Amino acid sequence: MDKDVINLALAGFGTVGTGLARIIQENNEWIERRIGKKLVITKVLVRDTSKVRSFIPGPETRFTDNLDDILEDQETDILVELMGGTEIPRKLIEAGLKSGKHVVTANKALLAEYGNELFALAHDQNQGLYYEASVAGGIPIVQTLKDSLAGNKIKSITGILNGTANFILSEMTARGHDFSEALKAAQDLGYAEADPALDIEGMDAAHKLVILIRLAHGADYPLKILPVQGVSKVQATDISLAGEFGYVLKLIAQVREKSGHLQAGVFPALLPKNHILAKVDGPFNSILLEGNAVGPIMLYGQGAGDLPTGSAVLADIMALAISHAQINNTGFRERTLPSARIVEPDLGVSEHYFRMTALDKPGVLSAVTGVLGEHNISIAQAVQKPGPQGKNVPIVFLTHRAQLKAINSALKVIDEFDFITAPTVHYRIL
Ligand code: NAP
Ligand code: HSE
Repeated sequence: MDKDVINLALAGFGTVGTGLARIIQENNEWIERRIGKKLVITKVLVRDTSKVRSFIPGPETRFTDNLDDILEDQETDILVELMGGTEIPRKLIEAGLKSGKHVVTANKALLAEYGNELFALAHDQNQGLYYEASVAGGIPIVQTLKDSLAGNKIKSITGILNGTANFILSEMTARGHDFSEALKAAQDLGYAEADPALDIEGMDAAHKLVILIRLAHGADYPLKILPVQGVSKVQATDISLAGEFGYVLKLIAQVREKSGHLQAGVFPALLPKNHILAKVDGPFNSILLEGNAVGPIMLYGQGAGDLPTGSAVLADIMALAISHAQINNTGFRERTLPSARIVEPDLGVSEHYFRMTALDKPGVLSAVTGVLGEHNISIAQAVQKPGPQGKNVPIVFLTHRAQLKAINSALKVIDEFDFITAPTVHYRIL
């Protein structure tokens, strides 16, 4: 962009939009020194223009609630989409790209669902569509995969990508809270998405994982077939039992590459207490990845919040504002990325934890261990918690490495025994 002033139109001025505007004001001279241009927020689209704002960018900024004011603006150089939702942002971004504007967005839900179409359009229009803030807020993982690690084949990514879920599990672990108490604390502190189901059912982490898979593997893994399990059914008792065995429970987003095929999913898993990700607590995010040249790398930081997320949005704006920068949206030269070659999720092999609820009576353990043996599942540890004879007791097994398919099939048989009085709880161990 051969201009001294870069005009920004912000669609959305909530947590992230306000954070971005604050950083632009606070670091204005520093930004100008780095890119040789001044960033000016000329337009801001909001739902309610009468709302009292905690921060106003400057006298040159015009607030509007009319989408057309943004769509038809000829002076905008970069359109920054920070509204949330999918349908209106999609329309806005498509219109922005078609009218020759670069676009920056933090909208992981939109990119996970419509990324292919939007990247193809950006490619055809030769415009930037940048999204550093869409994964793990302030952590610079998008640029790291696109640029810094571009020469590596990525063997695995294991991430804690949802701060709300991580905060909930940390609260349950540290304070013995049950799930609903911990969710309420997360909402009171403003960590959860407007619709907390996205956080607690794993979809927010799934959106982010699909974006990371594209960047790391140059392939599209359809969101609708990604196995996703959240934390809403996690019980305090399993967190406590896991602790007794030396593990902590975390919501993990993972992709592993094996012979050109990808195995991916979002699921709660037990991590040994000395695992490097086990120490990531509260609303923090972390990403552990393994490149075939660089080896392991871990990034850690704030995955949400006004200034951390604004920092990531600003990095994209600055990259696009530098006129000689080569546009690099997906990290690959293709117009559209090919479909990922996918390993059936239940072919994955790991150790496993399961807790059965059984009536304490003769023959229970022999029946259960018999089923495990028939499925070639080897027990590593077993504990039955004491309880009155003939009443319900928890029985916990930790297995050696076994295929998920064998575990699922064994648990199906076990749960049909008449002495099993509640569905067996099962988690993978990383
Ligand atoms: P937010 O606080 O809810 O703010 C949304 C903004 O968009 C508000 O200013 C709202 O206007 C405006 N808006 C929403 N719908 C609109 C519509 N139909 N027409 C006009 N304006 C509309 O959201 P946020 O937390 O900043 O998140 C923005 C995006 O960043 C989302 O995609 C989110 O997933 C992503 N993200 C957020 C975080 C985070 O820490 N919050 C981190 C990473 C990514 P009013 O102000 O008038 O209500
Ligand atoms: N709700 C998200 C989280 C915010 O808890 O991580 C950032 O994407």
